[in-house]
Amino acid sequence: TQLQVVDRMKTDFLNAISHELRTPLAPILGYTEILLGGGLGPLPNGATRGVQAIADSGKRLLNLIESLLAFIRLDQGAMALKREPTDVAGLLAAVTESFQARAKERKLAVTVHAPEGLPAVSADPQELTMALNHLLDNATKFTPAGGAVSVSARQAAGADGQSGVEIAVQDTGIGIPADQQEKVFERFYQADSSLTRQYGGVGIGLAVVKQTIEAHGSHVTVESEPGKGSTFRFVLPLAKP
Ligand SMILES: Nc1ncnc2c1ncn2[C@@H]1O[C@H](COP(=O)(O)OP(=O)(O)OP(=O)(O)O)[C@@H](O)[C@H]1O
Ligand SMILES: [Mg+2]
Repeated sequence: TQLQVVDRMKTDFLNAISHELRTPLAPILGYTEILLGGGLGPLPNGATRGVQAIADSGKRLLNLIESLLAFIRLDQGAMALKREPTDVAGLLAAVTESFQARAKERKLAVTVHAPEGLPAVSADPQELTMALNHLLDNATKFTPAGGAVSVSARQAAGADGQSGVEIAVQDTGIGIPADQQEKVFERFYQADSSLTRQYGGVGIGLAVVKQTIEAHGSHVTVESEPGKGSTFRFVLPLAKP
């Protein structure tokens, strides 16, 4: 119908501008990192603060654009997965590695625990990576300095009783009050708007996680206690041998 055509155009347009917005940020972030790392020689007096401000704002802008892209994909409805036998330990190691710089900056310990010989799961590695990125983004954002974030995997039974691999992202952060634990998976919901403004973000991460895990035929749950921390978990089915 005509409405669908307009909708399609809207999505294509938003997708295009999101990509156009992201491209110029790569050199901005890349060069600020090189400058701050001393790769182009020592910065003149007083320049460090300015370059740091450019880097911080650039990162914020990138996060917003990522959220916009995530929202568009969420809005497109059913996610088309490209499932393949996926090595969980390797994937967790890679995702966690990409958070180490931020962890150091925020004085957090981020660790991975996956036993040897964990069987492969049937998953879309790209979508799974993005979902884990959202969970780690939250865990490192809502955990004060000195805290710990751990990502772990173990063999466990799924909801259907079939054997699978459980993945858990646990933090020692601020936690989520019981009456809000369901709601945080809704898009744009943030547990405490005054508090979350301090933390940034638009409230899309967990909606993406939920959609992704449900597309895999599974379910994501949260256990949390305010002031103690939160654990997000889900079980993925084993890949057919
Ligand atoms: N690990 C966590 N610890 C404490 N609160 C959390 C945690 N993860 C999510 N929340 C709460 O759930 C809300 C929704 O999370 P979600 O990831 O969807 O949005 P966001 O992180 O605020 O923004 P975005 O992900 O779009 O950057 C958060 O604003 C926060 O209140
Ligand atoms: Mg988030």
